[in-house]
Amino acid sequence: MQNQLLLSLVEKYGCPLYVYDANKIEAQYNRMINAFSSVKNLKINYAVKANTNLNILKILRNLGSGTDCVSIQEVKLCIKAGFNIKDISYTPSGVSFEEINEAISLGVKITLDNFSILEKFGEKYPNTPVSLRINPHVMAGGNHKISTGHIDSKFGISIYQIDEIKNVISKYGTTINGIHMHTGSDIYNIDAFLKATEILLNVAKEFNTIEFVDFGSGFKVPYKSGDNETNIEEMGLKLSHRFKEFCKEYGKDLTLIFEPGKFLVSESGNLLVKVNVVKTTPNIVFAGVDSGLNHLIRPMMYDAYHHITNVSNPDGDKKYYSVVGYICETDTFGADRKIGEITEGDILCLHNAGAYSFSMSSNYNSRYRPAEVMVYNGKDYLIRERETFEDLLRNQVEINL
Ligand code: LLP
Repeated sequence: MQNQLLLSLVEKYGCPLYVYDANKIEAQYNRMINAFSSVKNLKINYAVKANTNLNILKILRNLGSGTDCVSIQEVKLCIKAGFNIKDISYTPSGVSFEEINEAISLGVKITLDNFSILEKFGEKYPNTPVSLRINPHVMAGGNHKISTGHIDSKFGISIYQIDEIKNVISKYGTTINGIHMHTGSDIYNIDAFLKATEILLNVAKEFNTIEFVDFGSGFKVPYKSGDNETNIEEMGLKLSHRFKEFCKEYGKDLTLIFEPGKFLVSESGNLLVKVNVVKTTPNIVFAGVDSGLNHLIRPMMYDAYHHITNVSNPDGDKKYYSVVGYICETDTFGADRKIGEITEGDILCLHNAGAYSFSMSSNYNSRYRPAEVMVYNGKDYLIRERETFEDLLRNQVEINL
């Protein structure tokens, strides 16, 4: 987004501020659809956890996307955003059976990922088809915390437990209508996807009632110019070809599902922050901003790289800075970054803040969450108010002491 536009939005809505470019989300969605256009039945289910703002959900709904939810609350947000029930999938991990009951009563598609719940499900809902999350035992993902398909991961039912699955479903007469996996996030190498695909298709072959195969997501997006990213077009060609071949072997036109989060929304987002202090030490020049790990925790939690630019002085002489937050923890957004010369009061932009950014934010240090603005077809819309002191007090119960 243009620096002038970003500056004018800060002027209008204040700082810190999340800004999303909805046209970029549309472009990414269409890129995904085009990459897999040769597949007859394709469904994109946006991974809602990446960004749950109702208006982002509506943009995706209007494009024809479905959603992937991991909590009953996400399911309810999707209903509120106007998604058809049939377009909402629920893929929880380790939730209570009460939550599964609620999802059943709402009528959404359910994917289960452990035997305990499969047993309870089979007993209570013998006539309701269900899909299963499989752990393919493939190591993939940008870092250990976001790798979910390896043998030590809590997610999915192991590929070594297929016989056990068959025993449980035959005990209750449960129909398995789909097979699912999600091996991690920030996966650059498409060979990892293709390897996991083969494993998942082999599992699908074990059941003759399959209607869809869900390959999850994990596509890596570029975090700065020239950065590598999953080649979605190449993957589209290779995976579509293999999927169509598999449908022939299976004797049915199955639906191919993906659940992208980052791919759809990461690049659309910017977090705009103001420089409170420029602090020079014998070693480092710090730019201390009016934000921190309470608004964007990815750099501290995963060592994630978020590109940082000086919106107020993009063309200034480049100098080295460590951009840090105002939280009483070591909340470094970026160390040793070459950025246009910074003066106190300047507005910096943390790029790629559309996914897992606001949705992972908190009130730590009793700070307010920022406002959110969406820019769509040249117009800007406030899509979430900045929090206030009342928000900090909400739900606190004060007793007379
Ligand atoms: N499907 C399932 C079942 C998932 O658990 C996830 C993400 C996705 C799809 C979407 O994956 P994506 O396309 O966004 O890579 N907070 C971490 C990422 C955690 C992802 C959790 N699951 C981060 O900020 O890097």
